[in-house]
Amino acid sequence: FTPDKIRNFGIVAHVDHGKSTLADRLLELCGAVPPGQKQMLDKLQVERERGITVKAQTAALRHNGFLLNLIDTPGHVDFSAEVSRSLAVCDGILLLVAANQGVQAQTIANFWLAFEKNIQIVPVINKIDLPGADIKSVETQLKTLFEFNSEECIHISAKSGLNVEKILNAIIERVPPPTAIADAPFRSMIFDSYFDHFRGAIAHIIVKEGSIKKGDKIRSYQNDKTYEVSEVGVMRPEMVKCTELNAGQVGYLVCNMRTVKEAVVGETLFSAESDRESIKTFSEIKGVKPTVYAGLFPVETTDYESLKQAVERLCLNDPSVTVTPDSSKALGLGWRIGFLGVLHMEVFGARLSQEYDASVILCQPSVEYRAKIKDNESIRKKRYDGMGEIRILDPSKFPDESDVDSFLEPMVKVRMIVPNEMMGTVNGLCSECRGERATKKLTSGYASFDYEPDGWQETRLVKLSILINSKEVSEFSQILPAAMARDRAKTLVQRLKREIPRQQFEVTIKACIGSSTKALSQIVIQPMKRDFSQLLKGNFGGGGMERLNKKLSHQKKGKERMKMLGNVQIPKEAFLNVLKN
Ligand code: GTP
Repeated sequence: FTPDKIRNFGIVAHVDHGKSTLADRLLELCGAVPPGQKQMLDKLQVERERGITVKAQTAALRHNGFLLNLIDTPGHVDFSAEVSRSLAVCDGILLLVAANQGVQAQTIANFWLAFEKNIQIVPVINKIDLPGADIKSVETQLKTLFEFNSEECIHISAKSGLNVEKILNAIIERVPPPTAIADAPFRSMIFDSYFDHFRGAIAHIIVKEGSIKKGDKIRSYQNDKTYEVSEVGVMRPEMVKCTELNAGQVGYLVCNMRTVKEAVVGETLFSAESDRESIKTFSEIKGVKPTVYAGLFPVETTDYESLKQAVERLCLNDPSVTVTPDSSKALGLGWRIGFLGVLHMEVFGARLSQEYDASVILCQPSVEYRAKIKDNESIRKKRYDGMGEIRILDPSKFPDESDVDSFLEPMVKVRMIVPNEMMGTVNGLCSECRGERATKKLTSGYASFDYEPDGWQETRLVKLSILINSKEVSEFSQILPAAMARDRAKTLVQRLKREIPRQQFEVTIKACIGSSTKALSQIVIQPMKRDFSQLLKGNFGGGGMERLNKKLSHQKKGKERMKMLGNVQIPKEAFLNVLKN
C-alpha cells in the first residue's frame, strides 16, 4: 500500500457510547473476524471483566483497495493518556455519541484533543435503535458545541450493524492519508509497546519514512542502541507477520529489545545507516503526570524480586505510571507508584494479579502535596537539600511545621455534565466532600465528568499519626487537609480496632496531629481474659488436670510469641484493610 491508499483513524467517545461494539462491527465488515465475536479489541482480562477499554488496540482492515488502520481508545477519563497516544498516530477520528445520552464530558474533552491536533473529525451518532434515542437533539448539540452540520453526522447502530458500512466510506473520503515519505531511509515512532513473555518487548510503530523488514538494522534515538529486526507484522487484530511495513503503515516490530525501557512510547526508531544528528524526533507524545500515588508491596516479602520484574514489565505496557522504590518497616521493600487516577490504580493492581499472578498490597492512595520552606538558608540547607519548595509524596517526608511557610495541594479543573434536576445534589456534594467520584453513583449514571490538572493552591495540611500503645506506626500515617483530620482520625481508629486482635495486655490506639500526643480520636482494646476459675475449683476429674496443663502450656507459647515480637501483634491483613480505600 502506498500512503495515498492508507487511512489511520481512531474511535473516541465517552465511556459506554459503543466504541468497542463499533470496532467489532468494522472488523466483521472487513472480514478480519467472523461475525458474532464480541469485544475483539478488548484483550485484557480486566477489560472484559469491567467492560471498559484500558489499552488502545489496533487492527489493520482492508476495504475497497484501501488499508484502514483502526486504533481503538479507552473512554474512561483516567486513561486519557492512552487517547492522546493514539491520536499521535491518527489522521482522523470517529467521534461517537450515543443517541440516548448525547454529548458528555468525555466527548467534549476528546473533541478538543483532536481539534487542537488538527485531526479530521467525523461525527457519528450511535445507538439509534434504542427507544430513548433522540437523534435531533444530539444533532443540535453537535451543531451548537462543535459546529457540525447534520449532513456530516452518520447515524448508526453499532449493535445491529445498521449503516456501519457508511463509516468505512466516510473514512476513505474524509480522513486524509498519512503524511509519510516512501522514498527515504526508515524512520518511525513507537506509539505503544508491551512485553511478551517469550519474545521480549514488542513495539507498535507508525512508519513515517521508508520501510522496514526482517534483517534490517535499526537504531533507537533516546536509548541510542542498535538492533537487527527479527519480525515485522500487522495486527488483525491478532499479530500477523508480514514481509515489510511501508511508509504510512501501522504495525509491530520485534528486535530483541531485552529491557523494558528500550521500547519506551514516543521513541524514534530509524535506519542504522542514517546519521543520528540529522534525525527528526517525535514530540507529539507528551509525558503525562500522575495525580494519585500509592505504596505497592508484595504480600510475602520473599516475592519482592518476582514482583519487581512484573511491575517493570507492566510499566512497559503502561508508560503513564511512575515508579520509585519505597520501603516500610511493616511491609518491607516495595514501591511508591504514581497513577492517573483511582480507577487506573485499581486496574494496575488487577493486571498485576491476572497477568503476572502477583499478590500485592496496594496502600491508601494520596495526591502529591508540596511545601514552601521558610526563607532561611540554614534550615533549607540542613534539612531540605537547599530547596525552597519540596514535594511530599508520603507521610514519612512530611516536614516539621515550624519549617514551613505554606503548604500547597494540587487542583483539578472538573468538567461536569449534570441534568438540571440533579444540580442541587451535585453542588451540595462538591462543596461538602471535596471529591468528585461519588457524583456518578448518586445521580445513577446520568452525570459525567472530566478533569485536567489546574495548578496548586495554598492549604492547611497536617500529618495524622497513628500511635499504638504510644508508639507511632508510620505505615498508617496520612497527610490531609486539616479540616478533614477529625473525621479521618475516627475512621482509622475504628478500622484498626476491627483489625487488631485482643492481646494479653491493653492496647490503646490514638490518632494525633503531627508529633503531638493529644488524641483526635482514641480507642482501647481490652486484653484477652484467661479464666481458669472453673478448672481451679478442684474439679480435676474427667481429664480436668490434663486440660489445665494443656491450657497452661498454650498460654506459655502465647507469651513466648509476644515476647518474640516485642509489643503489639498486628496481622498483615490489617495493613491491607485499614489502608485500603
Ligand atoms: P469503553 O470501552 O469502556 O470506553 O466502552 P465502549 O464505548 O467501548 O462501549 P461498548 O462498545 O462496550 O458498549 C457499551 C454498551 O452499549 C454495551 O452494552 C453495548 O452492547 C451497547 N451498545 C453499543 N452500541 C449499541 C447500539 O448501537 N445499540 C444498542 N442498543 N446498544 C449498543
